Amino acid sequence: MATRACARIAVRTTSRSPTSTPVLHTRLPAVGTTIFSLMSALASEHGAVNLGQGFPDFACEPALLDHVDAAMRAGHNQYPMMTGVPALRGAIAAKIAAVYGAQYDAASEITVTAGATQALTTAILCCVHPGDEVIVIEPAYDSYLPAITLAGGVPVLVSMQLGEQGYTVPWDRLAAAVTPRARLIVINTPHNPTGSVLRAADMRALGDIVRGSDIVILSDEVYEHMVYDGARHESVSRYPELAERSFVVSSFGKTYHVKGEFQAWTH
Ligand SMILES: Cc1ncc(COP(=O)(O)O)c(C=O)c1O
Repeated sequence: MATRACARIAVRTTSRSPTSTPVLHTRLPAVGTTIFSLMSALASEHGAVNLGQGFPDFACEPALLDHVDAAMRAGHNQYPMMTGVPALRGAIAAKIAAVYGAQYDAASEITVTAGATQALTTAILCCVHPGDEVIVIEPAYDSYLPAITLAGGVPVLVSMQLGEQGYTVPWDRLAAAVTPRARLIVINTPHNPTGSVLRAADMRALGDIVRGSDIVILSDEVYEHMVYDGARHESVSRYPELAERSFVVSSFGKTYHVKGEFQAWTH
């Protein structure tokens, strides 16, 4: 990954003079090595347990290997539809209906991607135009800001507040950050890295902010199945008023801890 502006990349073409080497101007000069790369390298160097990047210390489920093997032998090794294998999208729609009681059309509202990071980036790139403001609640997963920058968007940062309830979103401050140029609000529940979850009252506050506007919501719900203490995962899928203006991103990687072939879906 290019980490500095004007990084020189040695492009081997023919034996031209060195002056023909092109200069690659990174579009993300402020983005350095990710914290995941850093921590994984340190864990490997020191033989430490790698808590920085979900590295399972157990083998892949044998039944999963058997199913993958069977599928490949059955000839399921061709390019799928760009939006994902129809049967898989149907199964995802059925899962969302069973868990959140929300009906999504598998053919037009479910898209399978190569990981949640790709889904997040795709959602941002497809709806954020240069100059659009994107409200991001901090701290936030690393990929949001670079994707917003690539889209030409302007990140508007709103910090979580720490109180008796742990980390919460200050909806009054978030509402104050909304201008006529606001295009997208990114939420993440359960939240990485604080572990806090949004409650029904949070969803109502969010609904009050976006009602009547053109603001789209990008709801990162990759940890949807890691909710504890009897709390319920408040997916935006449960709230029709929010769902109609939302991308919801889930992750096979987080849900099933499938390593090797990471996939995610967005609806
Ligand atoms: C909040 C959040 N969203 C998205 C992702 C990316 O998920 P995936 O591994 O499916 O790309 C992560 C990974 O750590 C994450 O913590």
